[in-house]
Amino acid sequence: MLGRRTVLAGGAAAATVLAFGGARRALAAEAPAIPTVPLGGGVAMPALGFGTYGLRGDVCRHSVADAIAAGYRLIDTAKVYVNEEEVGAGIRDSGIDRKSLFVTSKIWVDDAGYESGKRAFQTTLDKLGLDYLDLYLIHRPRGDLAGAWRAMEELHKAGRIRAIGVSNFDDAQLAGLMAHATVKPAVNQVETHPFFQETTALGSLAAAGIVMEAWAPFAEGRNGLFTNPTLQAIGRAHGKTAAQVVLRWHHQRGVIAIPRSSNPAHRRENLAIFDFQLDADEMGQIAKLDLSRSQFPEWT
Ligand SMILES: NC(=O)c1ccc[n+]([C@@H]2O[C@H](COP(=O)([O-])OP(=O)(O)OC[C@H]3O[C@@H](n4cnc5c(N)ncnc54)[C@H](OP(=O)(O)O)[C@@H]3O)[C@@H](O)[C@H]2O)c1
Repeated sequence: MLGRRTVLAGGAAAATVLAFGGARRALAAEAPAIPTVPLGGGVAMPALGFGTYGLRGDVCRHSVADAIAAGYRLIDTAKVYVNEEEVGAGIRDSGIDRKSLFVTSKIWVDDAGYESGKRAFQTTLDKLGLDYLDLYLIHRPRGDLAGAWRAMEELHKAGRIRAIGVSNFDDAQLAGLMAHATVKPAVNQVETHPFFQETTALGSLAAAGIVMEAWAPFAEGRNGLFTNPTLQAIGRAHGKTAAQVVLRWHHQRGVIAIPRSSNPAHRRENLAIFDFQLDADEMGQIAKLDLSRSQFPEWT
């Protein structure tokens, strides 16, 4: 499905010189081309990105810099991850041109309001050391959502945020937000993975022209995802791992995944999903893994 909507981004594949500890080196050879998804208004979002939840301190900084070196261009953070400064430091360490990155952050529940939302946005920018965001999301559907959205719309129209969206919204919450909106959310970032496929929500988002983005695209490994026999068998047929099969499955469903890893080899493995295709039978086998329930009941 995504294949029809995506275009190849030359940026990720283009020669890029990155700086680490003062030593500049060309890293083009390992950077694969990541397709992009149009969000409207000329904004193109990479179809695969890097998540940073739970990454802190130097691990976060080095992971972000290395993710960029490996080829990731979409970096996902949030105020509540308490790592925006380290994400910003990692971006600067990478030496990459800011314009070739796609940086997402999120407004936390406590700040969901008009004035508080504007203040929170500026604090996020200051911590990241950036002067605009590519995507800013309402993290959870709590607080003064209409006020927060109005603040985000103004910042978007002023060119401070290229695209605005939401996270963890169901259809009714989206409809409630859109009743007051002048700008439609571009993205809804939700929990989805083979054990919680959210197929109905994916259909209604697609019908509304809203891109679904997957948080916990691996369910953080819960329920034995990385050793699931179905995913492993499909992987063996393609010379791929269960993780790569899952990320390819997200991609073929038109869902943008943002896997997190503190392991450099995993980061590279997770990028290598654009050189194979799951057929209808394999997609059908994965469809049968759906348990139709969250793997994170403690977060809802
Ligand atoms: N909007 C929201 O409410 C919300 C909520 C949660 C998360 N998020 C976002 O979504 C991102 C992704 O979700 P997540 O971080 O919760 O979980 P995830 O990406 O589903 O899983 C991360 C786990 O998978 C492991 N892993 C990664 N690649 C692997 C591979 N190739 N083989 C084996 N293990 C692998 C990692 O371990 P290693 O480090 O050892 O590789 C880590 O333990 C977050 O980082 C955050 O940016 C958003």
